[in-house]
Amino acid sequence: MNKKTIRDIETAGKRVLIRVDFNVPMEKSVITDETRIIKTLPTIRYLIDKGAKVILATHLGRPKGKFVPEYSVKPVAQYLSIILGQEVLFAADCGGEESKKITAEMKPGQVVLLENTRFYAGEEKNDPEMSSSLAKLADIYVNDAFGAAHRAHASTEGVAHFLPAVAGLLMEKEISILTEVLNKPKAPFLAILGGAKVSDKIPVMKSLLDKVDTLLVGGGMANTLLKASGIDMGESLIEDEVIEEARSILLQAEKKNVKVLLPLDVVIAQELKADVEIRVTAIEDIPTGWLALDIGPKTIKAYIEMINNAATILWNGPLGVYEIEQFSQGTNKIADAVANSAARTVIGGGDVVAAVEKAGLADKIYHISTGGGATLEFLEGRILPGLEALQEREEDTGNAPSHNWSELENAQDYS
Ligand code: 3PG
Repeated sequence: MNKKTIRDIETAGKRVLIRVDFNVPMEKSVITDETRIIKTLPTIRYLIDKGAKVILATHLGRPKGKFVPEYSVKPVAQYLSIILGQEVLFAADCGGEESKKITAEMKPGQVVLLENTRFYAGEEKNDPEMSSSLAKLADIYVNDAFGAAHRAHASTEGVAHFLPAVAGLLMEKEISILTEVLNKPKAPFLAILGGAKVSDKIPVMKSLLDKVDTLLVGGGMANTLLKASGIDMGESLIEDEVIEEARSILLQAEKKNVKVLLPLDVVIAQELKADVEIRVTAIEDIPTGWLALDIGPKTIKAYIEMINNAATILWNGPLGVYEIEQFSQGTNKIADAVANSAARTVIGGGDVVAAVEKAGLADKIYHISTGGGATLEFLEGRILPGLEALQEREEDTGNAPSHNWSELENAQDYS
């Protein structure tokens, strides 16, 4: 990565504003998946150990510029106190009087979390006034919010123009690994794409056609590709407006010698809900009135064979309606195969990560990306504004860093 990181600057005694992505799922103020927080700990601990005054800012949900109590990040400060084993202060505003007072009085090694950046209309508008009030709290800006790096907001992009701005360790790791996988994949390179809508994935499919050897497709997005190749998909979710584009992608894949595997059989039902009658059918035989909701056993077998032969695997998006148990088999079985394959594996997207974690297989994955939209945009080859705004390293060798990432996450000494 050609951006400066926290290792490249002096942080001792400085007030360091770290933009993190603590946009974590919560139920009644209880965090139900803390992955994003855990993955940011190396950066936070590194700066605590250096004697910096650590000021954390994050968004949570989409409260649209207004104070919405259930989107307060106060519970996150309490959770952080527990896992860091030290008090984490909470400022009930973000750049206002309370955060000014707390940050002015902080001692080296102390940590404060500011209230949700998206309680302010200026955040999503990338308002320079909001960026400037955030910048006034700190001496240095660190962006470790890879998951929000595709957003040009006041706390992710704007503020970087007011302070010396560098990347955190999670940002560095995400960018370095995704770059390495995209630019120097060991062949055969296999991508697995799923999710409901093909329209969301068309840009990434286009970009991956120049990189991968094989593409396995599942989930609702496969329906449109199957229809584009002449299959009657019954009542299945289809995006008719992108059929032509889907057809053109399949043709491009053929020209580029990329093997695209679509479902051979599917799990079907007459309604998308739990506890309904389900059947397994060959893809050509979907009866009228039924819809495809998961990949079937023959497809799973064929996909696992490809997975077992791959050297690099990139997976984004579930292969069926994963939230409903009856339609989660495809995603679960593929998660198992991906985790147990000898390939270098990189996965992203909430449902896929949840499937791997639920099966207790997360440790077997080379890299679990914390980004949803950010990971997809990066894979599409788009510029991420939150990354772009950071300072460049003077001498960039162009080589991927040689860190052992898992060691780095566990290390106590990050220097
Ligand atoms: C995410 O969950 O993908 C990031 O936190 C960004 O959230 P957003 O899509 O609401 O900007």
